[in-house]
Amino acid sequence: MKAWLQAAVLCCFSAQAWAADMALEKIEVSTELVAIERGVDAMMNDCHSCHSMKYIKYRDLAGLGIGKQKLDAWRGDQPVDAPLLAQIAENDAVQAYGKAPPDLSLMVQARDGGADYVYSYLVGYYVTPEGMPGNHVYPATRMPDVLGIAGATAQRGEIQGRARDIVSFLSWAADPHQAERIRLGYYVIAYLLVLTTLLYAVKRQIWARLNRVE
Ligand code: HEC
Repeated sequence: MKAWLQAAVLCCFSAQAWAADMALEKIEVSTELVAIERGVDAMMNDCHSCHSMKYIKYRDLAGLGIGKQKLDAWRGDQPVDAPLLAQIAENDAVQAYGKAPPDLSLMVQARDGGADYVYSYLVGYYVTPEGMPGNHVYPATRMPDVLGIAGATAQRGEIQGRARDIVSFLSWAADPHQAERIRLGYYVIAYLLVLTTLLYAVKRQIWARLNRVE
């Protein structure tokens, strides 16, 4: 390929990548339990009617510190080991919205941009000059503005906080064993440090004896 053509193609692609990056708001996902718990609450109130999280069970929410009373109210007569299935039947959702709401268990990993994408999508609703609903990140989305950010002014910050909590919970859900892995990592490092110290002491002892023999 001619150099100038290559440069032109490269320039196009990088400009596009840049544009996509610009559209997403960067957020810091919280790994704090209180934020994740708030996220569970918000997700059960605002999203669970339409969306399933089939890889997450009610029992997992108990493990996050959600109280028994709340959990019992959410699961009704379903067992604690039941997955979080949407309240609306898939067919009804398709009838109502023209599309089935996707499962959210792994959503943060499924989309380019991850947590930033999901957050930007949730807070990306606006009202077009013609008074129609729009979304900056997914313009033709069939999902309504469930957090009600489009017309919000005073409550905007509150809604953004809510979206951040939800995304923090969704990030936890997409990789629930991350915290455990990090803890295990510390144990492994501590173990290796102790082992190194011990081996060093043994080595010194052996060499001390050898030096004496000489
Ligand atoms: C009234 C039903 C309904 C509710 C409530 C709802 N959604 Fe959706 N959601 C949908 C539908 C329908 C789609 C499919 C949209 C499409 O692809 O056009 C969707 C799609 C999505 C997507 C995928 C977007 C993509 O890139 O494909 C995410 C993420 C999402 N919803 C998150 C949420 C979260 C988080 C909540 C709670 C704050 C929520 N939704 C509440 C109906 C709903």
